[in-house]
Amino acid sequence: MSSQISQKHPKGLYVLFFAEMWERFSYYGMRAILLLFLLDNIKGGMGMSAAEGTAIYGLYTASVYLLTLPGGWLADNILGQKKAIWYGGIVIMLGHIILAVPAGPAIFFLGLSTVAIGTGLLKPNISSIVGELYPEGGARRDAAFSIFYMGINLGSFLGIAIVGYLGEKVNWHMGFGAAAIGMLLGLIVFRYGSATHLKGLGEVPSAKEASEEVAPASNSNKMLGYGLIALLVVFLVVLQTTGTINMTTAQGLAQGAGIIIVSISAAYFLFILIAGGLTRVEKYRVGVLIILFLAIALFWAGYEQAGTSLQIFAERHTQRMIGGWEVPSSWFQNFQPTFVLIFAPVLASLWISLSSQNRNPSIPVKFAMGLILLGLSFFVMVAASNIAVKGELASPFFLTFTYFLHTIGELCVSPVGLSSYTKLAPKRYVSQLMGIWFVGASLGNLIAGLFAGGFDESNILQMPALFNQVAIITTIFGLILLVFWKPIKGWMGGIH
Ligand code: PHE
Repeated sequence: MSSQISQKHPKGLYVLFFAEMWERFSYYGMRAILLLFLLDNIKGGMGMSAAEGTAIYGLYTASVYLLTLPGGWLADNILGQKKAIWYGGIVIMLGHIILAVPAGPAIFFLGLSTVAIGTGLLKPNISSIVGELYPEGGARRDAAFSIFYMGINLGSFLGIAIVGYLGEKVNWHMGFGAAAIGMLLGLIVFRYGSATHLKGLGEVPSAKEASEEVAPASNSNKMLGYGLIALLVVFLVVLQTTGTINMTTAQGLAQGAGIIIVSISAAYFLFILIAGGLTRVEKYRVGVLIILFLAIALFWAGYEQAGTSLQIFAERHTQRMIGGWEVPSSWFQNFQPTFVLIFAPVLASLWISLSSQNRNPSIPVKFAMGLILLGLSFFVMVAASNIAVKGELASPFFLTFTYFLHTIGELCVSPVGLSSYTKLAPKRYVSQLMGIWFVGASLGNLIAGLFAGGFDESNILQMPALFNQVAIITTIFGLILLVFWKPIKGWMGGIH
């Protein structure tokens, strides 16, 4: 691995590295203080309940990744990736500037939506342009993605440290302003760097270049699509009128969004299985993609609680004094990127050395490991919350260890999952299925928000049971994957 990483890479990779580093600085930095800001009623925050705040947090983080679908489409069909990244960055920066203005809820939600739209435009396209730098594919391209992943986490680290500090210790809006400055630096890097080092890449929308056209949707397929949308609308109206969910509240809206995301994903998978013109082998591979989709959504649903229930736990129930100084609670979120920076090279070389002995675990086994590690991490939180219910502060080591397990789990699923999605997807559907990978992240983030709705101050006694639920569900899913890894591997039809 290290020898691959030290191979010479095109300068364009470093342009993308620093641009994405600053974008993630702004995203994760702002996200680190978002829930604190929504819940705070002393220092000029929004004073929401946990149920409301976490639902908004979930809706926001889910929208960010859901909007990568139109963002990818716009780049493929109209803008080309380079322009999509540039405009996306500008929109993100404007969003953070709006958030930096202390002007009440309407302006605040406008700012959040603006950041989400911009990220949808930037995020998928900056990753795909990394791939384009290496048309030959292979190990050098994998190494490039590992370097890029480091940039993502370096940005998260700096963002959480700086925006978290400013937001918590000085003033929320100062934190949001710092996120805007981070994105500005990313734009500057991209503007000057891409002019010289990314010439000729991502300029023309790829759909215009493609020789292998995707067959235009037939009329009957279009009718089917409209029919399904109508069915979904009717279903939501029924849920609303029968009082099953109340979409005039933040929580109800987030539940509605969850139903929409699940239905769209299910309909999409069914559609390509039934009407996608796939061969038998391809159908089995799509079956594996469905399993991986469920697994990754579940994984993020636990992992992304870093910004919700675990953030609340850090703020209210964790011992954070060092000497006479109180460590900002958002800094605990920094364990995830820190551990990625430390352990990504370790795990990458572990996989390489195992594969040289022909013992590299298969994709379903890695996913099983990721989910089981995540499950274990929540058992650690059950222990921590059993201390908190007694009214005592838990040691910071509980969260540290929890995040350590999260990260090792992440390194088993996230890099592997993305590349397996590109490999297992039938050729014609690669970009759409890449989009579905982000939809998995979107769904996971939404659940991470909704789940934390139970973490209200009045509800502390429930905490161990809530963490226990996550621990059990993820561990069981992981164990099922572990039991069935062989047949699943068989369905992959020789790809690993
Ligand atoms: N840390 C990763 C990132 O910000 C998490 C992620 C993975 C997000 C997959 C979306 C999709 O890029």
